Amino acid sequence: MKKEQNAYNKHLVVVIAAIAATGGLLFGFDTGVISGAIPFFQQDFQISDSMVENITTAGLVGAVIGAMFTGRLSDIIGRKKVILIASVIFVIGAIWSGWAPNDYTLIAARLFLGLAIGISSFSVPLYIAEISPTRLRGRLVSLFQLLITIGILVSYLSDLAFADNNDLSSWRPMFYVGVIPGIILLIGMLFLPETPRWLMSKGRETESRQVLKKIEEPGMVEVSIQQMKDDLEKDKSRAGLSEVFKPWLRTVLIIAVGIMFFQQFVGINTVIYYSPKIFMIVGFEGARAGIWGAVSVGVVNVIFTVLSIFLIDKIGRRKLYFIGMSGIVFSLLALGAVFAFHASLGDLGKWMAIVFVWVYIAFFAISLGPLGWLFISEVFPLRVRGIGSSIGSLSNWFFNGLVAFTFFKIVKLFTVQGTGIVTHEKLYDAATNSFIMQTVNNGNPAGAFWFYAFIGIAGLVWGYFFLPETKGVSLEKIEEHWRNGGKPRDLKA
Ligand code: BGC
Repeated sequence: MKKEQNAYNKHLVVVIAAIAATGGLLFGFDTGVISGAIPFFQQDFQISDSMVENITTAGLVGAVIGAMFTGRLSDIIGRKKVILIASVIFVIGAIWSGWAPNDYTLIAARLFLGLAIGISSFSVPLYIAEISPTRLRGRLVSLFQLLITIGILVSYLSDLAFADNNDLSSWRPMFYVGVIPGIILLIGMLFLPETPRWLMSKGRETESRQVLKKIEEPGMVEVSIQQMKDDLEKDKSRAGLSEVFKPWLRTVLIIAVGIMFFQQFVGINTVIYYSPKIFMIVGFEGARAGIWGAVSVGVVNVIFTVLSIFLIDKIGRRKLYFIGMSGIVFSLLALGAVFAFHASLGDLGKWMAIVFVWVYIAFFAISLGPLGWLFISEVFPLRVRGIGSSIGSLSNWFFNGLVAFTFFKIVKLFTVQGTGIVTHEKLYDAATNSFIMQTVNNGNPAGAFWFYAFIGIAGLVWGYFFLPETKGVSLEKIEEHWRNGGKPRDLKA
């Protein structure tokens, strides 16, 4: 009987998590889709590179704003309502982006859509973490990361499917596609319950117990209720916005901001979004080959994120982090070497570059990808979990923007004179208002990759001191550990 009930619970929880994780699909899709749309709307609107940059950056700015202003809101009105708000914005934002009659409207639409990306990127993992049984928490939050990676892949494929060189408006359907997952998230969330933790924080014990009974192992229901009560009692005097910055939570804040710093500063998005360029630099001919290279990156990303789902609650967060980060450092050093010696490596170098990009992505996908979102959703105490995880998410978007903004500058800074790699590309030319073949000196990214490797090494040291092993530890026990002044390294199930 007990076994049967557990099987049922697990099934239900997976369904709940999968629906909520659709927010991840939208995150991946909406951040990825722009790269394929750019060449089309640039010509359609006849706009300069800097205007294109404004449109791209608008999404990022929206995400920062979205994460910044809704963390506290999710502590006040609840996780579910905040995700519902995000899903409505996703739907309207997708229609608005696809419909935009001019560049300024597109900026506004992308900014608006960015809000939803920022909101969902912390509220969805938070929702999943709070509604999962302890034993499955890591796995279920990783579903969010899995859907991010699927979203990125789908965006490449949709770009490929709709890209039509004879139709300048073919960027519009690329954006419209985002309406579908938006509606799924909206309708799905309407039927899902609030999290038992949030309900409890509002004194709604009966409802909290009802939800817990559906999802938690039977023996754990009353234990969780009691622990939540104790935690809330101890926190009574210290709820509120400023609490998250108090000394007893300093370590937790360092964990949340730190994990996002390292997730972004190993250069993940330079590989994800510039991979077509990277493949062209190493000598694969033409933009199409570049895009197929990117698709291969997307596929490796999805496959290894699936693997992470099986590993994260088994071998634990810390081990995965050290394995993943070591692999990332190794592949970045290797990639740097391939670029540094590319002239003498010839054709072999081309293939080595691809293989090391795949290795890099694989190690990221089993570790820092899912771990970033997981940690920010589980390390904060209940009273400030919404605001806390939104600070984590905000840092993610901020560091993401910083890396994107500095990548080409870092490449340039570390390029030894005379080692720049030259490619011939069809690019937009403002003077003639058309796409023409141009010669581009890309610099040499070897130094940039070594720079990211160096940050990865610092990340290994940081992780040793600051990463807790939260596998199998209930959210309530994690909270207690901080209250007792425990070090991250000493947390154990
Ligand atoms: C990161 C994104 C990244 C993606 C790649 C996410 O965890 O936050 O910046 O593009 O992983 O899979």
